[in-house]
Amino acid sequence: MSDVGVLKNADIYIEDGIIKEIGSVADKGDCETVDASGQMILPGFVDPHTHAIFAGTREREFAMRARGMSYSQIAAAGGGIIDTVLKTRETPKSKLRSQAARRIDAMLGRGTTTLEIKTGYGLDFKNELKLLEAANELKEESLADIVVTFLGAHAIPPEYRADREDYIRIITDELLPYVSKKKLASFCDIFCDEGFFTISESERILRVALEAGLGVKLHADELSANGGVSLAVELGAVSVDHLENISHDEITSLSMSDTVGIVLPSVAAYLRTKPAPAREMIDRGCAVALATDLNPGTSMVDNMQTIMFLGISQCGMTVEEALNASTINAAAAIGLAERLGSIEVGKQADLLIVDAEDFSYLPYHFTGNRITNVVKNGTVLEFS
Ligand code: NIG
Ligand code: FE
Repeated sequence: MSDVGVLKNADIYIEDGIIKEIGSVADKGDCETVDASGQMILPGFVDPHTHAIFAGTREREFAMRARGMSYSQIAAAGGGIIDTVLKTRETPKSKLRSQAARRIDAMLGRGTTTLEIKTGYGLDFKNELKLLEAANELKEESLADIVVTFLGAHAIPPEYRADREDYIRIITDELLPYVSKKKLASFCDIFCDEGFFTISESERILRVALEAGLGVKLHADELSANGGVSLAVELGAVSVDHLENISHDEITSLSMSDTVGIVLPSVAAYLRTKPAPAREMIDRGCAVALATDLNPGTSMVDNMQTIMFLGISQCGMTVEEALNASTINAAAAIGLAERLGSIEVGKQADLLIVDAEDFSYLPYHFTGNRITNVVKNGTVLEFS
């Protein structure tokens, strides 16, 4: 994770959106040339965990936590995820999509060329479908690459609180078969934590997802240490995310698996809790990625430069580790490391041209933006 592989004075030759040559490239004659002399070129950032489609904001809860209330107390009082669910249900798909499109444009300008988007603010057949369709429409029309994750198991909706089994059956018997048949998502995720879904519910839902041909991910160990990491490893999850309360033994089992640990340092800052032990996880051999977790409750952050800063300042990561965690490891955490996440011959040309001499500048001055050009699929993007 600490090996970045810096090349000095190199050319990059791109054809049809793919990197064809790196190093000293002979003159190709008639082709567009971008002069990046004096600048630095990085792979585009990959944000492997977002809830980017939502309606409304929750600054009121932010203020409540500042006065000492916890995330769980606010959720138990009817706030939290359910607050956003009620607002999202009453918002038409076109509006959800256009608001998310603006968020994605802002992310692109800050260097995020690929992102994952989860559903999870619909929580019934009709509204989860609305979010899945909005996400797939964004995937079609956006300049960014988008990976869609189905998170019907984000919370039990209020109308099923008396009989959670009924809602779980909607996920396993109605939504997952539909998602799989219509190919609406690549992954199925679940909020496996105290007050949300238990380990055995998570196992049941994720096994149905695996049988339906989806990859799996888990939100685990955020509010409590509950065994979600072992389940992720056992099921071969592509990632297990949050990990604020990961135990010593779980770090061991994660380190021996192919599952990527996604650390979300802004969430701990919003919840005023301790972040995941990324330093120990890396030292003990885990593959760690970083993500924004963009959502209106626990992370109104869309900028991977800010996340790198937090990974370095709050989780003890080095700048090199934070860069790999935001590019190649983040791509691995959504199953795209073969195609994205590094500057290599044969990979998609998603590049950031940065007006700085060293990549440390980006997390160091995370409120600025030294990215002068974003290259997506070989095309230099223009921002208005
Ligand atoms: O990743 N932890 C669960 N889901 C989100 C929070 C969603 C919300 O509060 O709206 C998260 O932090
Ligand atoms: Fe999340």
